[in-house]
Amino acid sequence: MNKITIAIDGFSSTGKSTVAKQLAKHLGYVYVDTGAMYRAVTLYAMQNGLIDRNHFNVETLVECLPEININFKFNAELGFAEVYLNGTNVEKNIRTLEVSSFVSQVAAISEVRQKLVEQQQKMGADKGVVMDGRDIGTVVFPDAELKLFMTATAETRAKRRFKELIDRGDKVEYEDVLNNVKERDYIDSNREDSPLVKADDAIEIDNSNMTLDEQFEKILQLVKLAVEDGK
Ligand code: DC
Repeated sequence: MNKITIAIDGFSSTGKSTVAKQLAKHLGYVYVDTGAMYRAVTLYAMQNGLIDRNHFNVETLVECLPEININFKFNAELGFAEVYLNGTNVEKNIRTLEVSSFVSQVAAISEVRQKLVEQQQKMGADKGVVMDGRDIGTVVFPDAELKLFMTATAETRAKRRFKELIDRGDKVEYEDVLNNVKERDYIDSNREDSPLVKADDAIEIDNSNMTLDEQFEKILQLVKLAVEDGK
């Protein structure tokens, strides 16, 4: 079967990675979680004292970019690739609310975006890839054969993210999670470089009232049509 590029963009916690992983597994495609890459750069900045609640040393972070090496290794037990920062598996460390509270500021830096976009384009060069993020259909792969734009209400998304954090043992308040979701929506949509916008040719999926199975079936139909079109 003809291999295509599937770009999945949308607001935080809209279930992009869940459906991207399902699709990659079903189709035998590579899955790339680009948010994990921005989170890994943020973790590097936190670990090296470049960002905290009171300051953000953008200049030094930009100088350090050549030393920041991000890659993915497939974990057969989990069924997806985990992210590594300079050789260390940081899959769990990047999912904290603290990293979430700084990541949008880091993702707004053009030099950071340039480095990561270049790497993402190389990872998807051979097609057969499902990539999720904020700018995949607009900047990384503007020619992707299938572009999806996922949405759901902020409250629905905050409830999902809150449950994820509680299930993994983090002590968080629902209000803080909701505020983080809204704050990231704002920063991600209003930054100058590659803001989160729906590509003109993206198909919008509002999954506020959809089960995972319903969503998967709907998207699989769209994939089949896109593959047919590409022949
Ligand atoms: O998908 P996520 O919540 O893990 O992404 C974390 C942050 O990274 C998100 O708030 C915005 C940023 N991001 C981005 O700017 N561009 C991408 N392609 C992916 C994520």
